[in-house]
Amino acid sequence: MSNISGKEIIAVVLAAGKGTRMKSDLPKVLHQLIKKPMLCYLMDLLHRMDFFKVLAVTGHGHELLRQKIPQYKDQFILQKEQLGTGHALQQAWPAVSEQGVQWLLVVNGDTPLVSRASLDQLISQTAVSGADLGFLSIVLDDPEGYGRVIRDADGKVKAVVEARDYSQDVHGPCSGEVNSGIYLFKIPSLAGLLFELDDSNEQNELYITQLISLAFERNMNIQAVCTGNCPELLGINTPSQLIAQEEYLRKNLVDELIKSGVIVRNQDQVRVGPDAFIEPGVDITGPCEVYGTSFIGKGTSIHSHCYIEDTLIRESEIFSFSHLQKSVIKEFTTIGPFARLRPGTEIEKGAKVGNFVEIKNSSIGINSKVSHLSYIGDTRMDSEVNVGAGTITCNYDGLNKHRTTIGQKVFIGSNTSLVSPVKLGEGSMVGAGSTITQDVPEGALAVSRSKQKNLANKNPLKKKQK
Ligand code: UD1
Ligand code: CA
Repeated sequence: MSNISGKEIIAVVLAAGKGTRMKSDLPKVLHQLIKKPMLCYLMDLLHRMDFFKVLAVTGHGHELLRQKIPQYKDQFILQKEQLGTGHALQQAWPAVSEQGVQWLLVVNGDTPLVSRASLDQLISQTAVSGADLGFLSIVLDDPEGYGRVIRDADGKVKAVVEARDYSQDVHGPCSGEVNSGIYLFKIPSLAGLLFELDDSNEQNELYITQLISLAFERNMNIQAVCTGNCPELLGINTPSQLIAQEEYLRKNLVDELIKSGVIVRNQDQVRVGPDAFIEPGVDITGPCEVYGTSFIGKGTSIHSHCYIEDTLIRESEIFSFSHLQKSVIKEFTTIGPFARLRPGTEIEKGAKVGNFVEIKNSSIGINSKVSHLSYIGDTRMDSEVNVGAGTITCNYDGLNKHRTTIGQKVFIGSNTSLVSPVKLGEGSMVGAGSTITQDVPEGALAVSRSKQKNLANKNPLKKKQK
């Protein structure tokens, strides 16, 4: 067979383990690399590869996984007790075998950076060699906790032996070739092996790797597809391995951006997630973070110390220390420094959001300005509005949130409180220091503050001076 089509493959991610070596209560596959959980890297990639079906075996923190990754929860198969990687695969077997598909791709959930190219290589080389079982191997200077690949005198793979079961006396010197935990099985061949696994090893678990020695004993064709020293195939078992893999990914993503034409200054301190899209010509200065499905359009400058998550920005300038989440920023705006845009914010063309301004679930109209020290929440603001320093929408009465509507060309004096629900009609004006509790009609001036008194003889300091 020259190749195997994706439609003949079911993919299963093994993700049920606790990840004891992470020393954390969080299930290992929920740990994040650049703000994206490990398991999502694999599930997204496997979906993009258009396989017949993609499943994940989950166990430890199963409910939490369903909550945090709802988009894939229907593909989760429960492994109630974590009795080993082979046992995990046994749990998936009913869902796999009933499909009548020929091939099964298995990926360890803690190898999130495996690329499409490596999986394609495993699939094509397994097909070309007519193997019953193929797996990706890597060569390491220090094979530490990995399963070691053992070959016979003819160079044929005969077993993978876990580090703790390995003995120089029995197995000979270690070649450095180890198992990456990514396998392709011919399902009819696997059927006769999977339930032959036993727990005769140091950990008394059912190891998926025992399938290799079982296949060898039955004279099956086993193919180790060796990718050399391939960092993307390293597994994540400990915090330090997580940080190392994240840094490897971060650097690659930033290098790709620079190659594509993005100017990344202070590049070692820029973190851009794998699902963010930044157009050529954007200028970013680190330290800076861009996460989630953010889009940053050409002509935009992002100054240092900004945090941007799931936000769309077109041709604008984002000054330092701005924190933007789930917002939309249209062309020719300036944001910050020290601005905070919370989810549901839309900044229309030419608008300005200045320093120490927080905006939530609100739209700021074309050319409107909120320049200093304001909180705008649950507000619809039309175009060319001027919001004075220290203006606050009082949108929460302790029980419910209420809306504020601000018409075109409204002028709001400084230090105003807008007690919502309230509407300011087009062209209206609010005097500084007002507390607005009622709607203001179009074009009117609203002032609500106590009248100033000037008392000539009451200044106590003056009396003292006399
Ligand atoms: C495994 C391989 C080892 C290989 C290494 C590559 C086995 C026995 N060993 O070791 O040969 O070199 O990966 O990184 O497979 N899991 C379950 N259910 C369980 C146990 C584990 O779903 O009962 C999942 C884990 O969540 C994890 C994956 O299987 O994503 C691998 O388990 P892990 O304990 O990390 O195996 P390693 O010791 O790294
Ligand atoms: Ca591992």
